[in-house]
Amino acid sequence: MKTPRFSLLAAASVLGLFTGILPAQNATPDERARAMLARMTTEEKIGQIQQIHGPDEAAASEGRVGSFLNIVDPAISMKLQREAVEQSRLGIPLLLGRDVIHGFRTVFPIPLGTACTWDDDLAREGARAAAAEAAVGGYNWTFSPMVDISRDARWGRIAESFGEDPYLSARMAAAFVEGYQSPMPGRPKGIAACVKHFGGYGAAEAGRDYGSTPIPPRELNDVYLKPYEGGVKAGALTVMSAFNELDGVPCTGSHFLLTEVLRQRWGFEGMVVSDWESVVELTTHGFAKDHREAAMRAINAGLDMEMTSHSYRDYMADLLASGEVSMATLDERVLAILRVKYALGLFEDPYGPAFDAKKYLLPETLALAQRTAEEGAVLLKNEGDLLPLGKGVTVAVVGPLADAAHEQLGTWAPDGRDADAVTPLAALRVKLGADRVIYAPGLTYSRDASTGGFAAAVAAAKKADVVLCFAGEESLLSGEAHSRADITLPGEQEALVQALAATGKPVVLVLMTGRPVAIENLRGKVPAILAAFHGGTMAGPALANLLFGDASPSGRLTVSWPMASGQEPIYYNHKSSGRPASYGDFVPIEKIPQGQLQTSLGFKNSHIDLPPWPAWPFGFGLTYGKIGYSDLELSAKKIGMDGVLTVSATVTNSGARAATEVVQLYVRDDYGCVTRPVRELKGYERVSLAPGESKKVSFTLRPEDLSFTHIDMAMGPEKGTFTVWIAPDSASGLEGHFSLE
Ligand code: NOJ
Repeated sequence: MKTPRFSLLAAASVLGLFTGILPAQNATPDERARAMLARMTTEEKIGQIQQIHGPDEAAASEGRVGSFLNIVDPAISMKLQREAVEQSRLGIPLLLGRDVIHGFRTVFPIPLGTACTWDDDLAREGARAAAAEAAVGGYNWTFSPMVDISRDARWGRIAESFGEDPYLSARMAAAFVEGYQSPMPGRPKGIAACVKHFGGYGAAEAGRDYGSTPIPPRELNDVYLKPYEGGVKAGALTVMSAFNELDGVPCTGSHFLLTEVLRQRWGFEGMVVSDWESVVELTTHGFAKDHREAAMRAINAGLDMEMTSHSYRDYMADLLASGEVSMATLDERVLAILRVKYALGLFEDPYGPAFDAKKYLLPETLALAQRTAEEGAVLLKNEGDLLPLGKGVTVAVVGPLADAAHEQLGTWAPDGRDADAVTPLAALRVKLGADRVIYAPGLTYSRDASTGGFAAAVAAAKKADVVLCFAGEESLLSGEAHSRADITLPGEQEALVQALAATGKPVVLVLMTGRPVAIENLRGKVPAILAAFHGGTMAGPALANLLFGDASPSGRLTVSWPMASGQEPIYYNHKSSGRPASYGDFVPIEKIPQGQLQTSLGFKNSHIDLPPWPAWPFGFGLTYGKIGYSDLELSAKKIGMDGVLTVSATVTNSGARAATEVVQLYVRDDYGCVTRPVRELKGYERVSLAPGESKKVSFTLRPEDLSFTHIDMAMGPEKGTFTVWIAPDSASGLEGHFSLE
């Protein structure tokens, strides 16, 4: 039992409740919030739970708003904050929010690219740098990280995600939260992070944004909720409720998610903001008869602040009067918001750093962005060690993404500037000298359907030693509400690559995309493929360094790379099926004899025109080294429920170049009270290896790492046998076995 404690601070805050005297600055945010709440009128409370899009000075000065979003001019942010702090009765400062998704003025790679670094420290540093720029821009809150599990590359927002894996996404979520919320001058918690979109938003049917997300309850716990939990446990001050519905209940009105899971299960004490108008969209979903009922359902479910729409502002007084919403509920919502404001230090320093454009694009921030783009690019193919290229070569630079500053910034980069971006063409001209770079784009933009530029591109290829083809997607082909049914390269890009390959010159295909794209028609046609995603401001120098060996590729896929759109959703941690297909089972459709019996192909969990595995598996990526795995060791064959298992292996680089290998730990729970995934990632480590160097890499596994949701919905590990792998990717590796007893 807990011993009741009555500290001086608590006494002071209780006193504050009755006297209106605010407790000292060193009281906890909760104590200070409670004391402030005691002084607030109902109107002021209703003001706090409303977020407004665009400036409204009267609302700020009269205490009728808790937050603004998207105030792009720092002078206006400052003015609004001054109105709130100096003019409103209680001087409660404003939260000023913005989508700082992958950098601010310095644009980092899209989150999917950053996740492919498997480098938590780098992700944390990137978020910290983004927060510093955003604070200079007048913001104290970012709507990031987006941690929705994305198993379907058709979904446009896969670009904003960390990919398909719950363990990795939870680690990345924590890294981003820690980065944004690391202290900066005057701000003990940097800028507030917002873990979104809670929850399961990425499972939209057919990848169509905002669609229903049919997620079985155990899968919700074991897969989809994990990354949000990772961000919350890392101390995220805010969470955003999602647009989608889960099993008939839109997330913004879900008591289960917003109260039972978030607060009761995880102990979250921060605030929940709705997504854009998602409160009033409860009516469109058919979950509320009108905006009044929508407001009632959302606030009672646990939604603290309404973004953009204003059903809270319009109906809360009436809902309180009718008793449909209690004052205690409203108080809880206001307290959550005030706690965030106190935790951020806004009462001490509401204004943050003064605007100073010189704080943007600092050399160290650009260097971080470049390093992230280097580490996040995934080398998918490198036949005959074509890469890295020798410095003496002449290159033909082709493709619609070679010099497309705007596109390389990717989706959700509203504060980036095209003029700041260094394109691959510009970077290669600097690295090689302009006379060794022959530029002929072939296509003017990614969806360009005209082949008029092909002849010049082919002529350039013929003059060069190597062709560098920068293909991909424009930034608007991914992101919110920009899902694609067909995820091949748009326009005539496939034809362009085929024409280049036909010259006989070696072609390096660099993919600058917002998602994995299906390139099955090209995979065998080019010797080298580098998946670079949209790499941000410094994509060009990063790619030039990778292609010429001044940086060494170490990125690994955090999504399964599909062969075709029709394979989606495709992910490595699927269930076995009673009839799994294995390598060797698959007969290409054109080789199936005509008139053959229905039974002749066997009965396997596969399509007949494509195998059930991707072009490249989750975790895959090549280096410039030659990496081998050996000597798997398990510290025990059995562990008890309080035991610890150490799993180790030796990783060797027998190549001539230094490399960084991402060593991965996977587990399969062989059988259980419910079926378990065929593999689950449980650990990873980036290991740098000089030529000829070997290192022993060890991971520990505890029973709680083997937890899952049982048939009766209880969570925990279960006794039984397990397979474990230390592996370079999710489809291979050294295999061992142990049991939990
Ligand atoms: C809608 C998006 O779903 C969300 O991610 C974003 O933060 C808000 N709009 C605010 O722009």
